[in-house]
Amino acid sequence: MLVLGIETSCDETAAAVVDSDGHVLADVVHSQVALHAPYGGIVPELASRDHLRNLRPVVEAALERASLGIGDIGGIAVTARPGLSGALLVGTGFARGLAYSRGLPVVGVDHLVGHLLAAFLRYDDVASAPPEFPFVALLASGGHTALYRVDGLELSQVQELGATRDDAAGEAFDKVGKLLGLGYPGGPVIDRLAREGDPSAIPLARPMKQSRSLEFSFSGLKTQVMRWVAENGAPKDDQTLRDLCASFQRVVVDSLVKKAVTAATGERVGTLVLAGGVAANSGLRQHAREAAERASLALVVPPLRACTDNAAMIAFAGSTRLARGEDDRFTLETSPHTALLQVTRKGRGRR
Ligand code: KG4
Ligand code: ZN
Repeated sequence: MLVLGIETSCDETAAAVVDSDGHVLADVVHSQVALHAPYGGIVPELASRDHLRNLRPVVEAALERASLGIGDIGGIAVTARPGLSGALLVGTGFARGLAYSRGLPVVGVDHLVGHLLAAFLRYDDVASAPPEFPFVALLASGGHTALYRVDGLELSQVQELGATRDDAAGEAFDKVGKLLGLGYPGGPVIDRLAREGDPSAIPLARPMKQSRSLEFSFSGLKTQVMRWVAENGAPKDDQTLRDLCASFQRVVVDSLVKKAVTAATGERVGTLVLAGGVAANSGLRQHAREAAERASLALVVPPLRACTDNAAMIAFAGSTRLARGEDDRFTLETSPHTALLQVTRKGRGRR
């Protein structure tokens, strides 16, 4: 079955066509980064209006790129949670309207489950193999950072091993980016600057270094950077800025990779999967590769376009339910919360 995926939960308007095996036939993303840049963060009202303006052309472009018409599509998968409420309503309203008018089934997808399953996407121009179950996934995005054991494609087969106690990793990148005047989102800019910086130039302590738990904490690290700036002033030259970015990134990456490898070995799985926007970070990708090799783990890192927000991961995440004949046409509701909050937490039962 060919699935049309629609994603409008935050600041990307995206549409994609994916088959049931995860083969991506078309993948179109319209970014709103330039629209929000002057405000230093996402303005929800502007996001909704821009999704309204762009969603139809983006869907049309995806169908055109796949050389398909809407008549070739077997079902629609749309992000229904979590996200900005107005932005989610634009996507789900559009998907429902299209489903009604074309007599198609539509299912609501959890954006974070989409991220978690992005490693299954197959692109014509990238050689890759899907991860084997069971695996441990590190999901690090702008609003969420956690480790999961994944035994299958269903939500009931996902178990949380540990999550952040405070800020998400992407949030830490963005807050430090803002603090250093690097604009929004800070993650990609810090990544670029860190490549030419010395990660040991500025001493920053790794959060929860002594703790054996699989939880993360990043807000204290952000405070360490704030304190450094308060004591030393804003970086006076380009090299100091690069060094500060590299030192900060090294600590975030160390923390993510150490706990991910501990989780994978503790769960006795053979595979570690990276997911979410922060998985686009070049330092994380490289460090994870080295650590996985040392621990004899297979590492699956989706291509960059599958890590950051896109609709192909939404289409694939919805395809199992669509293939079973499920349809949310009359029940589709949006929610600011992720369904992953309800997955079993190891040792604690269902939350
Ligand atoms: O998954 P995503 O695209 O959207 C959410 O669902 O949140 O993640 C966005 C987050 C932002 O915080 C952004 O700064 C971060 O991912 N990000 C990066 C990089 N690319 C995106 N962080 C570090 N390095 C990158 N290269
Ligand atoms: Zn995302």
